[in-house]
Amino acid sequence: MSRELIYNAFLHLTPNHHSHGYWRTAEGDVQRGYSKLQPYVDVVTTLERGRIDNLFIADVVGVYDLEFGDGDATIRAGSQFPEPDPVSIVSALGLVTEHLGIAVTSNIIQNHPFSFARQLSSLDHFTDGRVGWNIVTSYLKNGFRNFGYEDIVGHDARYEWAQEYIDVAYKLWEHSWEDGAVLHDAATNRFFDPEKIHTIDHVGERYRVQGPHIVEPSPQRTPVLFQAGNSPAGREFAVRNAEVTFLPSATPDAARRDIAVLDALARERGRDPRSLKKIVTLSTVIGATEDEAKRKQAHLHEHIDYAALRAFLSGGSGIDLSSIDPSTTLRELQERSEFGEHVRSSFRAAVDGHGEDVTFADYLRDNAFLPGRFAGTPDQIADEVERWAAAGVDGFNVVPVTTLGWWDEWVDQVVPVLQSRGLAQREYAPGTLRQKLFRNGDALDPTHHAHGVRIGETAATR
Ligand SMILES: Cc1cc2nc3c(=O)[nH]c(=O)nc-3n(C[C@H](O)[C@H](O)[C@H](O)COP(=O)(O)O)c2cc1C
Repeated sequence: MSRELIYNAFLHLTPNHHSHGYWRTAEGDVQRGYSKLQPYVDVVTTLERGRIDNLFIADVVGVYDLEFGDGDATIRAGSQFPEPDPVSIVSALGLVTEHLGIAVTSNIIQNHPFSFARQLSSLDHFTDGRVGWNIVTSYLKNGFRNFGYEDIVGHDARYEWAQEYIDVAYKLWEHSWEDGAVLHDAATNRFFDPEKIHTIDHVGERYRVQGPHIVEPSPQRTPVLFQAGNSPAGREFAVRNAEVTFLPSATPDAARRDIAVLDALARERGRDPRSLKKIVTLSTVIGATEDEAKRKQAHLHEHIDYAALRAFLSGGSGIDLSSIDPSTTLRELQERSEFGEHVRSSFRAAVDGHGEDVTFADYLRDNAFLPGRFAGTPDQIADEVERWAAAGVDGFNVVPVTTLGWWDEWVDQVVPVLQSRGLAQREYAPGTLRQKLFRNGDALDPTHHAHGVRIGETAATR
């Protein structure tokens, strides 16, 4: 294999991540176990059997349709509700695995950066350097209201907030403890060297943190940083901070363009573009024959709970889609005067891509972030992987049909074909998650922004 592709397993500790309504089928029944530990242990065991690089646990801290509705549609359907805390499961999953990376989502409103940095350092120790963090700023109004805010903070201001949050964390992870601070030297009676452990004395817009970090540096110091953002502010944030980012690209050609834009921005900001992996969604229905795959896809689509899906998309986009009749065409939607200009323009873009006679229901089914966008045999899926790889993507965010159970299909049927074509690893590389992904040591890349947020060396603590 000329270049290693990485595979990220998308998971969410909730009854329905993206397959809204599918829990009512025989295959979806497995989701009833979402609040138990054992089904997730089974998932990670399967992922390691398939040499998957990383488990990625998504998370939100609010209810989707409390933005426009009364919460019923998403609560009734169990759509990203309830939400057990993902950080709570990492130690257990780390104990039953040896190589798998485990990235958790945590947003900036739910924790103080001091306690969050402490949690992640602890988990990085307990997993021998296999944790990652998906940095999110939260798009749910209800999420903000759960943490004492009257309303959601504006889009770009959330990224500014996130930058301060993560800068505090960098100071704690990267700079509070110098290398060589851990002595364990009985002869001189020094477990640690106080001269090499520093307060950070951060005083910023939102946070004041004295430090020092109260966990010693973990194998990776900073966990591997994941982020998804496609807005101008989101891209700036990605090239400054992320090490793995999710591209929005719907086609390989779009991916080629999106990668070129991000790489150019990275170079402009002094960041080596190779230190930022760009991955795309891969969402497949697998069949032994193409016919079987298409039948399974149709079955999946028949069971979509559209009320729940609309509520989910409304909460995520900030646009009330729940009142739209599913049979309305995109032509009508692009002309509706009650929508603001940005909503009409997104429907105009949809018309450009799909035609004006497409109904809203079909548009949602084919284009919303649903599992099963591609249905085919393992060989056809491998062809698809090759097309994306040729466009320059670094890997895939594999979106399962059900977050529990489904992974056996992927690992037993698709992975062997990918491996035989040199599109997936047969064995794990040794070392931390960062070393496995980048093959360049445990530390952040030298061109990463965190090297520029050094603290002074004056405030030694005793
Ligand atoms: C693959 C993927 C996973 C995401 N996971 C989460 C998540 O778990 N929690 C969350 O609040 N937002 C999540 N998001 C949303 C992003 O954090 C971000 O808000 C979104 O991509 C819009 O960013 P932008 O406004 O900069 O374009 C995810 C987005 C993508 C594409």
